[in-house]
Amino acid sequence: MRPNMVVPLFSSYPRRCETIISRLFGSRVVAKASAPGKLILFGEHFVVYGMPAIATAIESRTVAEVQRAEEFSLLDNRPETPGYKKEKHDQQSDSIRRMLKAMGLEGKKVRIVLGGGLIAASGVGASGASCAAIAAALNEEFGLGLDRDKINDVAYEGEKGYHGVPSGIDNCCSTYGGFIHFRKDLKTGKSIIRQLHSKARLSIVVGNTGLTSNTTKVVGDVKAKRDKDPEKFQRIFDNYSKIADEATVSVEKGDLVKMGLLMNMNHLLLEGMGVSCDELEELVELASKNGALGAKLTGTGRGGLMIALVTGEAGSKIASVIKKAGFHSEIMNIGAEGVKVIR
Ligand code: PMV
Repeated sequence: MRPNMVVPLFSSYPRRCETIISRLFGSRVVAKASAPGKLILFGEHFVVYGMPAIATAIESRTVAEVQRAEEFSLLDNRPETPGYKKEKHDQQSDSIRRMLKAMGLEGKKVRIVLGGGLIAASGVGASGASCAAIAAALNEEFGLGLDRDKINDVAYEGEKGYHGVPSGIDNCCSTYGGFIHFRKDLKTGKSIIRQLHSKARLSIVVGNTGLTSNTTKVVGDVKAKRDKDPEKFQRIFDNYSKIADEATVSVEKGDLVKMGLLMNMNHLLLEGMGVSCDELEELVELASKNGALGAKLTGTGRGGLMIALVTGEAGSKIASVIKKAGFHSEIMNIGAEGVKVIR
């Protein structure tokens, strides 16, 4: 098999052969998997309260390499928003411990190396992508034969290390890829996932505030605000429910103008919930003034990323205006493939 050739996720048999060969001849084979980051197009925070969200996998990926070793080690070579990896270090250790336990590999000594082009930053699903990639690489290394749904369950367990009680949208996007309509049944705790087949030719410009946000804290703050003013939040939730329904139709139809309008409305509601910040407001304004069809914060907020829906020349114009204002910006391809083993 050619090196680096991508094979389906479930490839334990050839992997087992390689492991036997490597043991016989003393060479070291590394199990490798990659998973995409994600962007939430609609519904961050609302999804925590059981409302639907729409997200998409992005082309940038995290690659995890796993190998049995004499002792446990983790080398994190992912590019990052400065300070992100340090800030998340303890959460990352907890996350990996949880995943090993969920896979029945507690106490196993492995060397994990993380890399790939996905920037470790708030809002881009960095933890979900690394959890899915690590879970798939561990599955491969230990020949566990877990299917995609089980990998998703393990990645969700890993996400708990970062987010307390995450909705699960990030690991679903990283595991399954494409466009995802996601809802969490709050009674059963089950994720209800539907892949959306979008007719839209979407181009998204991302603006990075450069600030790392703490999801557990921001989600907790929203809950406290809602407890204080339930009527206000009910109005916001009712408005969002209408947006979510219309957004699903507009994504599937590829109605970009409508999608843009709905993104703007979604952002206003998030702002009203107190999860925006000055930097995000500046980025949204820059995008809107320079031809975006719609713009909003994505992910946790209070830092992290802004996304803008664009067509044609507007993308490069907005990216350059954002860069001039001192932020990192890039145009992203979306709807990418989910987690996969790399050979
Ligand atoms: O910041 P991100 O990309 O990890 O997204 C968090 C999304 C929230 O809805 C705020 C939390 C969640 O668990 O869904």
